[in-house]
Amino acid sequence: MSDSVNTTESHPFGADYSYFCAKAAELTGINLQNYKGKQMYRRLANYMKRRNIPDFATFAMRLQRDPEEVARLAEYLTINVSEFFRNREQWDVLAGQVLPLLADSAKWRMRVWSAGSAAGQEAYSAAMVFAERSLHGVFALGTDIDETSLSKARAGRYTASEVKSVPKKLLDKYFRKTDDLYVVADTIKRMVSFRRHDLLASEYPGNMDLIICRNVLIYFSERSKQDVLTRLAASLRSGGVLFMGATEAIFNPQHYGLTQIFPFFYRRMP
Ligand SMILES: C[S@@+](CC[C@H](N)C(=O)[O-])C[C@H]1O[C@@H](n2cnc3c(N)ncnc32)[C@H](O)[C@@H]1O
Repeated sequence: MSDSVNTTESHPFGADYSYFCAKAAELTGINLQNYKGKQMYRRLANYMKRRNIPDFATFAMRLQRDPEEVARLAEYLTINVSEFFRNREQWDVLAGQVLPLLADSAKWRMRVWSAGSAAGQEAYSAAMVFAERSLHGVFALGTDIDETSLSKARAGRYTASEVKSVPKKLLDKYFRKTDDLYVVADTIKRMVSFRRHDLLASEYPGNMDLIICRNVLIYFSERSKQDVLTRLAASLRSGGVLFMGATEAIFNPQHYGLTQIFPFFYRRMP
């Protein structure tokens, strides 16, 4: 069975599912075709079971009638789990080994893109790493397909459990505590801006020094993943670096004009 989902009548999961995918794409703006087919089908089947939705035709009808159902589905589909400094050892490599390379060759203002930034944890982690090296002239862009995550990212307010992976020294320095929440300090907020961007459909920004795209491509079909990697590589300046997730080695980086410099870090060849 193919890993991608198409929305034709001859769909491997049946015509109802095909119709549902078309409806979901129309109403959420998320094209399920580009995600791993079997995995997506299984997740949706589980979701329906939990919510007592008997079949895909009924689900499509509910989406059509109820905008809240659409919002709930969009949130579920985007799997926006994240944390600050996820896989800490890789962030240490970024700070200790990759940044010196970038800082040496960067223009006066470093451009950083957290693609699939969820609620901002990754983009703010990057900003803190840069600030610690006194690199404040950084423009960091956080993008995501999910508006709810983006609103949370812009607010920059997190619970104690959400900031538990932030090193104490950085928590004290770059967060302000108000009641039960930790608020990202203005010095860090000023370095980051967030906007909606669909990696599978939107135009890509260019001339990036560093792109962080972690735990996003794992949900995409093989073909979409390759398309996105091609476009991410093209968004890097020559010598710029792509930072991938802890399980996301690129097997043939040279195919994208990249070369591996450390595990999960790829540099665009001149
Ligand atoms: C599992 S989270 C990873 C967050 C963060 N990068 C990390 O590693 O902790 C995946 C994120 O990718 C976003 N996403 C899913 N499909 C996307 C797409 N087509 N374009 C942009 N973002 C997408 C989701 O909304 C979600 O916030």
